[in-house]
Amino acid sequence: MKSSITQGVKLLATGSAVPDLCISNELISNIVDTSDEWIFNRTGIKERRILSGSTSLIDIAALASIKALKKAGVNALDIDLIILATSTPNDLFGSASQLQAKIGASKAIAFDITAACSGFVIAMVTAAQFIQNASYSNVLVVGADVLSKWINWSDRRTCILFGDGAGAAILQSCSISDNNLLGFHLNTNGQKFDQLNIQYEYSNNDDKFFSPGLKGNFNYITMNGKEVYKFAVSKVPQSIQNCLSSLNLSVEHIDWLLLHQANERILNAVASRLMIPTEKVISNLAKYGNTSAASIPLALNEAIEDSRIQSGDLVVMSGFGAGLTWGTLIFKWNP
Ligand code: ACO
Repeated sequence: MKSSITQGVKLLATGSAVPDLCISNELISNIVDTSDEWIFNRTGIKERRILSGSTSLIDIAALASIKALKKAGVNALDIDLIILATSTPNDLFGSASQLQAKIGASKAIAFDITAACSGFVIAMVTAAQFIQNASYSNVLVVGADVLSKWINWSDRRTCILFGDGAGAAILQSCSISDNNLLGFHLNTNGQKFDQLNIQYEYSNNDDKFFSPGLKGNFNYITMNGKEVYKFAVSKVPQSIQNCLSSLNLSVEHIDWLLLHQANERILNAVASRLMIPTEKVISNLAKYGNTSAASIPLALNEAIEDSRIQSGDLVVMSGFGAGLTWGTLIFKWNP
């Protein structure tokens, strides 16, 4: 098959933003029957940020984007494409266009990707396709979620886990020899969609004429914690191994393991299965909890800003979650 790859992809810069309101485990233990000790021991989470007042998903997504654009030295008007990975849009028709307007990227085509906690990885891979076939040169990829909108604050099995946030990355076209997005591996298992979801529930016939029985509302987040845990610790290492072998690389080549920040025990179990030392595992779960599509770019941005990730480092990024979806992207940080 003739390759359609004519360009390389460079990750230029990242940015992130979180809401100001910080909710500690102690505070949650005033709402449901739980404790800081239980939450921290089972998940590694100490606190999370929650959106409040009139601040919206678009505000934090825009802030993260503006920071990334500034660091990259790219003007918003030079962005060709915006991909917003979110499962908590402001508008069911998509929120990327509001982000486009807010940051003044008026020449960019903008659309959403809904893939929960795998959203950022899938959005990065999608962006790379447009760059590699020379359709677009400058792409803004954003992972942003406000799962607090869908939390049942009386369900202690789920309300302890999630937080809100946004992270952004600027990708740019470069020569194939300078390419630093090395490879990816994506999967979906729709048979298990009901292990983790925000289900649409139909109300009784309130529209007798056109859509009887079709009206309703989305319910709260529901999750089969044990099954999601088992899924993550079995599928994610396989995905990483498959991606590494497709590039003739091995685990020893990994400098940083950057997993979706779902749960510290999942991070440790995946690292242990791959025999990756914990010093190479990036984690910020204690501060933010699980921020869904935002978790990977948020953690990536922090690790770049505090110079843990150095130029030339090989980073393995894996997302996993609702769908069920999971996927790995391997890149060299070489801005
Ligand atoms: N505080 C105190 N007790 C609790 C709490 C809580 N917040 N939540 C559950 N319990 C109790 C349960 O009621 C149960 O009590 P019982 O034995 O008397 O019935 C006991 O603790 C054990 O409950 P489990 O659900 O079996 O707890 P588990 O050890 O599985 O831990 C957890 C729950 C942390 C959610 C775990 O299943 C997990 O890590 N799952 C992975 C899923 C995940 O991380 N999801 C994040 C979103 S998905 C994603 O991003 C991919």
